[in-house]
Amino acid sequence: MALFAKRTHTCGQLRTADVGTVVTLNGWVDVRRDLGGVIFIDVRDRYGKTQVVFYPQHSVSAHAAAKQLRGEFVISVTGTVERRPDGTANPDLATGEIDLRAGELAILSEAEPPPFPVNDETEAGEELRLKYRFIDLRRPVLQRTLMFRHRMYQITHDYFDRRGFIEIETPVLMKSTPEGARDYLVPSRLHPGKFYALPQSPQTYKQILMVSGFDRYVQIVKCFRDEDLRADRQPEFTQIDVEMSFVTEEDVQEVAEGLMARFFHELKGIDIPLPLRRLTYRQAMEQYGSDKPDTRFGLTFTCVSDLVKESPFRVFADAVKQGGTVAGFVVPGAASFTRNQMDSLVDFTRGLGAGGLVYFKWTDTGLETAVEKFLGKERVEKIASAMGARQGDLVLLVADAWKKAYGILGTLRLEMAKRLNLIDENRNDLLWVTEFPMFEYSEEEKRFVAMHHPFTAPHPEDLGLLETDPGKARARAYDLVMNGNEIAGGSIRIHERTMQQRAFSLLGIGPDEAQVKFGFLLDAFRYGAPPHGGIAFGFDRMAMLLTGMKSIREVMAFPKTASAVSLMDDAPGSVDEKQLRELHIRIV
Ligand code: AMO
Repeated sequence: MALFAKRTHTCGQLRTADVGTVVTLNGWVDVRRDLGGVIFIDVRDRYGKTQVVFYPQHSVSAHAAAKQLRGEFVISVTGTVERRPDGTANPDLATGEIDLRAGELAILSEAEPPPFPVNDETEAGEELRLKYRFIDLRRPVLQRTLMFRHRMYQITHDYFDRRGFIEIETPVLMKSTPEGARDYLVPSRLHPGKFYALPQSPQTYKQILMVSGFDRYVQIVKCFRDEDLRADRQPEFTQIDVEMSFVTEEDVQEVAEGLMARFFHELKGIDIPLPLRRLTYRQAMEQYGSDKPDTRFGLTFTCVSDLVKESPFRVFADAVKQGGTVAGFVVPGAASFTRNQMDSLVDFTRGLGAGGLVYFKWTDTGLETAVEKFLGKERVEKIASAMGARQGDLVLLVADAWKKAYGILGTLRLEMAKRLNLIDENRNDLLWVTEFPMFEYSEEEKRFVAMHHPFTAPHPEDLGLLETDPGKARARAYDLVMNGNEIAGGSIRIHERTMQQRAFSLLGIGPDEAQVKFGFLLDAFRYGAPPHGGIAFGFDRMAMLLTGMKSIREVMAFPKTASAVSLMDDAPGSVDEKQLRELHIRIV
């Protein structure tokens, strides 16, 4: 015997073709309107909403039961599909031309008033939403994003399967792989004092799989990084992880582009032009001031070091003499910025660590700048013309060490775009940034660290620089950038033992430490390693961008807060003394 009348249709399914049939719907009460005699409710499930009408004269019992309904009650309702009277159809609802005249109603579950309404628009704060995530997830907008995510999984599986990739799972309890973040550690009960690390990525495993001859590997995989969280970062997140043998950069990039093309085509109906644009890291920095440039708007930079290096303006001349850069960009039409607006820009730039911001305004009466007395009128004109400025424009200039100057300009460029509303949110720009530096100097650790990871192959032309000028050596690393976000990163790997040992030693990892930490990889390289390379996509970040959400938390079912807490289930939590004892752990 059925315990309740099971649905014959979903709440998004009925149309005028069903008029006259008797159906049963199961779902949640979305809204209830009691118009004295007649009661209207919308019943909602994942598929949509249907309006149900309870007439007292039609079914006394159903009408009486309907009086008790409140929002979020779970019901089973049986009735006859009717065409709505002329003029009352709801064009915003797929089922808007019909309603259900209720004959029988059963309340399957009552509900307390929810802490916030189950609507797309919500005024509830994020903390409240995350605490009551089970209700938050009922909101159609979140149902849509999670279904969108589901489509992304299916496309990913199909795409890689058709291209001959094999999906292989790698361990979650592993030895630490350095991706630059802190590890999440899991204490071992059986081995006192020893710990597993949760993977920051399956990097070493996928390389081992290449050594084992699998040729083309893919995995949709959870990664864990104990790092500072932001709107586009979570402590556990999902990657589409890819590795390929006997390939160059272009092969990996071609596969990645094909996946993006399918996402755009199937999920958004957009055909993106391939191959994607490529900028080297140097070009990206010198044109946009970022290794993940937002290319949806202009404001690109011009270097004017040559024009100012001989000038009496010490700030500029000294910067160039010390090996730095003087560069800037033109903001079209912004000569009309007021004194206050300019002061706020200067403050903003200083806040980024700049010594200052030099600016020229090209007004009706010509070029105006506070530094004219230092630079000279002629030089000011030369700079403005070299930068392509015109009457009505504002010219912004910064002088500093190369990386710092461009970094500051990059942030300033984004800020100007925001203030002037220059970003077309409907546009999608994808590009590759290539030839990243092999190493980055860490002020904190006072040594070079890997910019991508220690397994990335150096650029063959720069092998000679590795020991002599490591900061200048380029890597065979590439990032895929979308609208100013890094959505994937990868590289061609080192596949020779000696080269890998050399890379470790450049990173300050001596032979003994290398053997302890990565002995398995070095050993594997003894037994025939194919040249290989790969990439990993940030799945959540892509889902966020493709759905137009502002936070990565909106595309994850159960995300954590910025302080890495799950507000719904209160993770992380305390554990019993007994559990700690078993793990040989004492809290101090
Ligand atoms: P990488 O560290 O660049 O490369 O990571 C790949 C992509 O994962 C996404 N990502 C994140 N998304 C959400 N939250 C985070 N905390 C987070 N960290 C990274 C980004 C990034 O582009 N093993 C290498 C890949 C390789 O070399 O093949 C790796 O993990 O979108």
